[in-house]
Amino acid sequence: MSKSTDKNRVIIFDTTLRDGEQSPGASMNLEEKLRIAQALADLGVDVIEAGFPIASKGDFEAVHEIAKTVKGPVICGLARSGREDIERAAEALRPAKRKRIHTFISTSPLHMKYKLQMEPDAVHEAVIDSVSHARNFTDDVEWSCEDGSRSERDFLYRCIESAIKAGATTINVPDTVGYAVPDEFADLIASIRNRVPNIDKATLSVHCHNDLGLAVANSIAAIEAGARQVECTVNGLGERAGNAAMEEIVMALRTRADVLAYQTGVKTENISKISRLVSTITGFTVQPNKAVVGANAFAHESGIHQDGMLKHAGTYEIMTPESVGLTQSKLVMGKHSGRHAFRVKLKDLGYELGDNAIEDAFRRFKDLADKKKDLYDEDIVALVDDALMQVNNRIKFGELRVVCGSTGPQTADLELEIDGETRKTTASGDGPVDATFNAIRELFPHDARLQLYQVHAVTEGTDAQAEVTVRLEENGKTVNGQGANTDTLVASARAYINALNKLLVKREKTAPAALTA
Ligand code: KIV
Ligand code: ZN
Repeated sequence: MSKSTDKNRVIIFDTTLRDGEQSPGASMNLEEKLRIAQALADLGVDVIEAGFPIASKGDFEAVHEIAKTVKGPVICGLARSGREDIERAAEALRPAKRKRIHTFISTSPLHMKYKLQMEPDAVHEAVIDSVSHARNFTDDVEWSCEDGSRSERDFLYRCIESAIKAGATTINVPDTVGYAVPDEFADLIASIRNRVPNIDKATLSVHCHNDLGLAVANSIAAIEAGARQVECTVNGLGERAGNAAMEEIVMALRTRADVLAYQTGVKTENISKISRLVSTITGFTVQPNKAVVGANAFAHESGIHQDGMLKHAGTYEIMTPESVGLTQSKLVMGKHSGRHAFRVKLKDLGYELGDNAIEDAFRRFKDLADKKKDLYDEDIVALVDDALMQVNNRIKFGELRVVCGSTGPQTADLELEIDGETRKTTASGDGPVDATFNAIRELFPHDARLQLYQVHAVTEGTDAQAEVTVRLEENGKTVNGQGANTDTLVASARAYINALNKLLVKREKTAPAALTA
């Protein structure tokens, strides 16, 4: 086994909240971003790219709040090369103990000519100006050459050298359009190390997109060629086909330490938890056969494999489920469990709730225990997440009674509390879900379009809680709502109402048009 040293420590730069959030439909609100940022800190990532402060008021607030409250990792904000962008990022990051401004500009001929409409010399000037300006606010400045993998090498070396002279402490080379292949990308990184005279004064980083399914392979090839920071996202969330998946890079380094002698600071046992959190919040489910975090990643179906596993787990398992935080679903509690045990369980599961929230969750736990025979950790997570989603809502779920079956019509009697006033209606529809959503539309008329309706069972068995995600779109703004209940229709109504509440908050915030990055 090769020996590893500090020189082989790889910095994990997580951009789930910035590049990940740029996936159409993955937008998150402030509370959700704070929860993910805290979970990233618990996971042990080194840098959290919390957003793009000039892009919208919501982005600014999220970066600012994360900078204020999340301790441990460096908090980073993205900025284009203009001074206003950089100042906005600096302002958002002000409360952070450790802050980084990440500024970027395109360096490829295609991007400079068509997107920026700038001559290379002007781009080079902008690199120097942006990095020098960012250094006025922090001594941790990252500079990225957008579309770096399709840039002309001599121009790239010149820009990188100047960025470092101007004060950049991290140089990030993105494969923005996921075009590179591993050997070629490794060669680019090696050539930057050989040809940029002051490269030893900065950390070399890579940022790979997954358009050809090569983002993780390219990131690992780059590490082997000398990169010591990788930019990645949980579940590989991100623009188009996504970014390099954090969990895949980290587990590849851990599992193949015999040939890849690099370490990260990630507590891999927290991987499954954060994967689930990001997928619940964004409504982007993880494909069952996804590496490391897919539902089947540790399932052994064929008889031959099962037989091998019984004789020795190593026959078909290269990493243990426990190493990514998957434990056998444990029977946790029953209807006789008391408040104290429930409190301790919440703490174990990573929830820090106030007394009122605990009381409310406990009451719902008791209701659930009356309906469901066996209660697992996953049930408690779904129940508490559902309760957290419903706080401060203008529209609150009251009661629902649905008539359905093969002889229609299907109808829904629904009661909601809207701005403190109770309202009731009966609506029919093409099936029970349609009837339920029609009833919500009658009680709270709106034009939002349903873009996604998704149900998944929290545990096994016919008495399992259903966890529902609803995505609504209005004037180009999308929101995801979640709800959980043993009754799928109640969970559906709660998810729809949660999405609607988020839309109301979004309506109040005017956001300038999204920026490209
Ligand atoms: O993909 C990309 O080039 C980016 C940069 C802003 C780093 O996201
Ligand atoms: Zn990107």
